[in-house]
Amino acid sequence: MKNPDESINWSEIRAQSARESQRKQVHMLKHGNQMADSPLPLHKSVYIDESRFDAEQKHIFLSQPLVACLSGDIPNPGDTILFDAAGPSILVSRGKDGEARAFLNMCTHRGAKLIEEAEPWTGVKNRLTCPFHAWTFDNTGRLIGQPGKAGFENCKEGGRDLIELPCAEHIGLVFVKADPDASPIDAEAFLGDYADILSQLELWRAEPVKKGILTANSNWKFALDTYGESYHFGTLHKTTLAHTNYTDKQVFETFGKHHRIEFPKLATGNLIDTDESEWPETIYGGVHYLFPNTIIFFGAVADNVFFTQVFRLFPDGVGKTRCQFAVYAPFGIESDLHKGSCIAAFDATATVVQEEDYRVASHGYANLLTAPDDHHIVLGANEWALQVVHQHIANVIGMPLK
Ligand code: FES
Ligand SMILES: [Fe+2]
Repeated sequence: MKNPDESINWSEIRAQSARESQRKQVHMLKHGNQMADSPLPLHKSVYIDESRFDAEQKHIFLSQPLVACLSGDIPNPGDTILFDAAGPSILVSRGKDGEARAFLNMCTHRGAKLIEEAEPWTGVKNRLTCPFHAWTFDNTGRLIGQPGKAGFENCKEGGRDLIELPCAEHIGLVFVKADPDASPIDAEAFLGDYADILSQLELWRAEPVKKGILTANSNWKFALDTYGESYHFGTLHKTTLAHTNYTDKQVFETFGKHHRIEFPKLATGNLIDTDESEWPETIYGGVHYLFPNTIIFFGAVADNVFFTQVFRLFPDGVGKTRCQFAVYAPFGIESDLHKGSCIAAFDATATVVQEEDYRVASHGYANLLTAPDDHHIVLGANEWALQVVHQHIANVIGMPLK
């Protein structure tokens, strides 16, 4: 695992960063919300068009580095996860040498799946044995067992090893490209400046607590849009988030195609026109968007009780979204109480996202299918992050927004 220098005091860096964010939030609350130049109408085809969806499959889900898991999901040699959400069924496995590698979950004899369980499957597999005729592979993908070898005597050494995919592990994230022919992943180049922001989360220390699947009957971008604005807090989340956070206020910062959004707490408003020396301690938090489909939320469930939530949204067809949602203990599980708090946070968030955000996304998507041919939805200037994400996706797939 390649992690930043452990001598760095990340908690101190987070504290400074939290204070800096607080300043930006107070400034924004006093002087007005950040806005794009204008609203952006989006033709319904951006969400429902099959050819656009095909282009996204090709240029995004098969070509871009995707977060297959966190380092802590496969902490030890032999640990293996199934990653089948991007299209091809993929295994990510940590070898004896500590390296994470990705392979097609496809036996090189006659193509059977080596691991047949449905995602989210995680387990220890020091050897991967095919359920069909028992060919066996090690964690580096090498074919090491072939019953009835005599029948395959002309197979050249190494010629039937597992098919490897581009994989790179960096600051606690394991990236995979879902196409074996894709170029290698340069995680540092992919993250750019954003690595400094994400490093504050110490993702390489995160320990998984609970994982599950959320689903929406909507295009994946329609579901993704719900993470990028607080305009809906006061109505859709009036009994939850609106009790603690401002509605329609955010500090939005971009880092290449990635971004961070901070939604200010109501208490932050009390700091306007007060002396900074009197401000209470604050903790680092925020919604971290990692292009194209990952949201990482870091925050505290209670005083000094932290959690990291990771949402990865994948299309399951043009009108279906499958979100892999997981909660991690950011610096390892500290106690049963801490674990219980993280589980409670998972359950509460899963309920809100599934029953509130994804509910309206599903309804909106169904409406778009029957809306007039020339219908456009509109992303407000206050929904700036959504505008930016749609623009990046359109650029990557080479199809302008309509
Ligand atoms: S298909 Fe895997 S051993 Fe035959
Ligand atoms: Fe929401």
